[in-house]
Amino acid sequence: MHADDGYFDERVAARYDESAGEMFDPAVVDPVVDLLVELAGGGPALELGIGTGRIALPLARRGVSVHGIELSRAMVARLRAKPRGDDIGVTIGDFATATVDGTFSVAYLVFNTIMNLTTQEAQVACFRNVAAHLGPGGCFVIEVGVPELQRLPPGETIRAFHVSETRWGFDEYDVATQDLTSHHLKIVDGRLERHSVPFRYAWPSELDLMAQLAGMRLRERWSGWKREPYTSDSRKLVSIWEKPANPG
Ligand SMILES: C[S@@+](CC[C@H](N)C(=O)[O-])C[C@H]1O[C@@H](n2cnc3c(N)ncnc32)[C@H](O)[C@@H]1O
Repeated sequence: MHADDGYFDERVAARYDESAGEMFDPAVVDPVVDLLVELAGGGPALELGIGTGRIALPLARRGVSVHGIELSRAMVARLRAKPRGDDIGVTIGDFATATVDGTFSVAYLVFNTIMNLTTQEAQVACFRNVAAHLGPGGCFVIEVGVPELQRLPPGETIRAFHVSETRWGFDEYDVATQDLTSHHLKIVDGRLERHSVPFRYAWPSELDLMAQLAGMRLRERWSGWKREPYTSDSRKLVSIWEKPANPG
């Protein structure tokens, strides 16, 4: 247990793989890893918010050298406990500011984790930090949900994303500030547990502008890892920005 583990403390880390179970399905993980192997092109990869190694471990098994930045020691302890988990270098720190030796071919930030930075300043700093770690021609990949404002009736602030017998999830939007709070409620051993996490949502074009501020440009945007087209109905995006091989 560590006071600086953020929202992914010991309690959350202990259950992370189980509660995010469907995200560990090979049908979900394999297309992510396939694309990252391609983008790495034989070079090293940097994962921001590496967590318990959901993507980093299978990527390393495909021969890519992976380094992670992670705030939560509790999450990293779970990574370390897995086969070959000790082979992956991890820098403990905030991925908006933490620095790592070396340059990388690809940096990636998946599973909505850009939204864990709850200010625009921190998100911009993250893009700048990534650009400083990429070699010329290197790229930055983000996977994040598209803000669900079209599904929010005028005046409403709450949208349910999960309702079942024992678990409920609600997103609470503040359209004035772009704050988004995810409330998770779950019955555990007959008792109701609540866990609320603050996020900041950002528009696809806002992310492009952050990339531009960091000296990168959009290479491609899809709505999934299998290069599904991005349209006005897309619920999530996979965007790739590149650091020019010849800046200027
Ligand atoms: C949703 S989990 C994703 C973990 C892993 N990337 C995956 O796909 O399973 C988000 C992770 O990012 C970490 N994280 C959140 N904000 C961070 C920050 N500012 N700096 C470093 N790590 C952060 C959390 O501790 C957590 O492990």
